[in-house]
Amino acid sequence: MKNLNKIPTNPIKIQDNTFRDGHQSIYATRMKTEDMVPIAEEMDNCGFWAMEVWGGATFDTMHRFLEEDPWMRPRILKKYIRKTPFSMLLRGQNLVGYNHYADDVVRAFVDKSCEIGIDVFRCFDALNDFRNIETCAERIKDNGKHFQGTVCYSLTEGRLGGEVYNLSYYVLKAKELEKMGADTVCIKDMSGILSPYDAYDLVSALKKEIGVPLHLHTHYTSGMASMAYLKAIEAGVDIIDTCLAPFALRTSMPAVEPIVAALQGRERAAGIDLHKLLELDEHLESVAPKYKQYLADHKLSIIDTAVLAHQIPGGMISNLTGQLKEMKALNRLEEIYEEVEKTRKDMGCPPLVTPVSQIVGAQAVWNVLFGRYAKVTYQLKDLVLGLYGKTPMPIDSQLAGTILKNYKRGQEPITGRPADYLEPEMEKARKRIGDLARCDEDVLAYALFPATMGKFLQSKYGVNKRESADAENIT
Ligand code: CO
Repeated sequence: MKNLNKIPTNPIKIQDNTFRDGHQSIYATRMKTEDMVPIAEEMDNCGFWAMEVWGGATFDTMHRFLEEDPWMRPRILKKYIRKTPFSMLLRGQNLVGYNHYADDVVRAFVDKSCEIGIDVFRCFDALNDFRNIETCAERIKDNGKHFQGTVCYSLTEGRLGGEVYNLSYYVLKAKELEKMGADTVCIKDMSGILSPYDAYDLVSALKKEIGVPLHLHTHYTSGMASMAYLKAIEAGVDIIDTCLAPFALRTSMPAVEPIVAALQGRERAAGIDLHKLLELDEHLESVAPKYKQYLADHKLSIIDTAVLAHQIPGGMISNLTGQLKEMKALNRLEEIYEEVEKTRKDMGCPPLVTPVSQIVGAQAVWNVLFGRYAKVTYQLKDLVLGLYGKTPMPIDSQLAGTILKNYKRGQEPITGRPADYLEPEMEKARKRIGDLARCDEDVLAYALFPATMGKFLQSKYGVNKRESADAENIT
């Protein structure tokens, strides 16, 4: 019988995100390393371009909720996964935390991440202000690792286009990253708002304009993601992110299995064995009951139709609803949706991604309840002051003047790179944590999470227990 299969001339490369973004998106980042180990070797044999195993919220949840030393996960997995590169998500100057750190912390963190086995660093900044990823990028390159420059995908018009987020915005941003030495460029659609035809246009334009491989990251949230991938693949995207089925869909990534199946026998076939993936799914199904409690199941629909209507990220909608519930004003949600759009425009149309999405959302609620900018959050003042970086569009100077009036951190917006205004932090952290830190890793972890790492280190070294034992001996 004649073989009808075309030889894949340009196979799509696949990054597996099951061990990071998958469980971060739908199981509150609670997956334990012990549940990854049993399938680690088999995952390594699948032929993924990379596996995302660390970064994002994992560092935070591992030490706060899982009693795992965050530095250990890549080290443990590396024993089983020897061929597939490890990827991590790095929030630029925010690293894996929620505020900007000084350059000395950033450099120490990148060095340590390289040492524990991270190969590919996906670096992004919430405002797409790449001065906030400069220090990481340089250090990653110095370590000889892969710097993936990332553009956050955002919209103002419901579709690609308009004054801010048009094709030339993305092309210019991608070129900026290429100039910074990016080994690959990633478009990161954290809210799942990239439509299939916009994906086609975007990828086509970028493939024409940039020389390094193009990576697409999207979430299934609105239900468009698998279609967006297919059109992106047709337009020539090089790499996409997926998860194994039990950790896919909903607000996570598209599932890998249907994509592999759909491309079988075509020139862009992934070259991944579908049956191998199905075996891995069985393992994940066996551990799933443990994590099911974290799954949002208040609705039958596994897609978030509100995202289609407002392009407001799912996570942000739940924050807004929470805030309104607390203030007994849930009936004003529609007004808030409109105000989010206005506040965002006032703030120079930033992409709605952490932490900016929360800052804009919280202020929009106050604007509706107390009058526009009658009360202003500190975070919004910092944003206007330029401490998060440069917004895509300028903020009206009169409005900035009103918001910053009498603000103790400054009344005149800064124009420099935000980290240039920060003092070195490592030595201070070393002094503050004292003997509780037994190695550099402990100090660095403490510099990242000063509020919670002390407690973790106490339990890591059993300090409290020993103290109480000593006390018993004395009495
Ligand atoms: Co993501």
